[in-house]
Amino acid sequence: MKVAVIGATGMVGRIMLDVLQEREFPVDELIVAASPRSAGAKLPFKGEEIRVVTVDEAIEKQPDIALFSAGGSTSLTYAPKFADAGTIVIDNSSAWRMDPGKPLIIPEINGHLLTANDRIIANPNCSTIQLLAAIAPIHRVYGINRMIVSTYQSITGSGIKAVEQLKNERAGISGEMAYPYPIDKNCLPHCDVFLENAYTKEEMKVVNETHKILDANIRVTCTAVRVPVEGGHSESVNLELEKPFELTAIKALLNQQKGVVVQDSPQDNIYPMPRFVAGKDEVFVGRLRRDTSHEQALNMWVVADNLRKGAATNTVQIAEWIVAHNLI
Ligand code: A2P
Repeated sequence: MKVAVIGATGMVGRIMLDVLQEREFPVDELIVAASPRSAGAKLPFKGEEIRVVTVDEAIEKQPDIALFSAGGSTSLTYAPKFADAGTIVIDNSSAWRMDPGKPLIIPEINGHLLTANDRIIANPNCSTIQLLAAIAPIHRVYGINRMIVSTYQSITGSGIKAVEQLKNERAGISGEMAYPYPIDKNCLPHCDVFLENAYTKEEMKVVNETHKILDANIRVTCTAVRVPVEGGHSESVNLELEKPFELTAIKALLNQQKGVVVQDSPQDNIYPMPRFVAGKDEVFVGRLRRDTSHEQALNMWVVADNLRKGAATNTVQIAEWIVAHNLI
């Protein structure tokens, strides 16, 4: 299989290369592309050094699958060109997610929607993926009426420039700013751009993508906050359920879910933290407790590496589904 990674020099692109190797995805030929600035650079893959090419050169090579993580405008321009050349594009940007004709996929939830005719497949937003991976099993059994989400998001979700900003601030160097304010020793209630309804685009992604992937009837509200953390995104989640529940049953349900790890033993100080999920592919859930203000509601804390399950891992898992179900 000929596989291309578009945006391979970026934060997510580099992890895509790691995940393809770790999961032994059947790559016969790897094509790595980035902006013309990086053309000619070398990236390591399976013990070899692969030369970075431009996106146009990557199209000429007619890959079977192209994993995109090079920003929305690159996806808008180039994904259709790859699709026209017969490549299956799995796109990590927000460019195609809400397009009604493009599937938005978390394999363990809605992989069954994929068909052999899909040419551009969207990978959901990082905050949405870890959230839905944790709540989908609960929704299936108890029905979620309403959900309140507050995120504590890693700077790695804003790309290399943001990581540089934090490094510079900690070293006392003044440099290029990815955010409108310092991020060290700070919390910015501002992820992505503000919209007319006073929510940020990130907050509305959580709402809209939940509706597209899981259920359009769930009432969702979100506040997304950027924090000076690198290992992963954390989310405080309040779920109002349709049916009465016992916490032990919810815990058992989550324990059975592939890709979810329950870390919930408060008496031993056991709960998920971004520092300890970095580099891991699972979604970690803890602090499970009944909402004392609402008999049929519960609180939980959901943490995952946003560059892994929130981006690269989910993208590769979509590719794995396509191969396993002979959709290519
Ligand atoms: P480059 O490294 O050459 O700039 P991040 O979000 O971590 O900053 O990564 C963005 C990725 O998208 C990088 O690999 C970057 O390449 C790539 N990229 C940015 N703009 C373009 C473009 N116009 N065409 C192709 N790749 C791009």
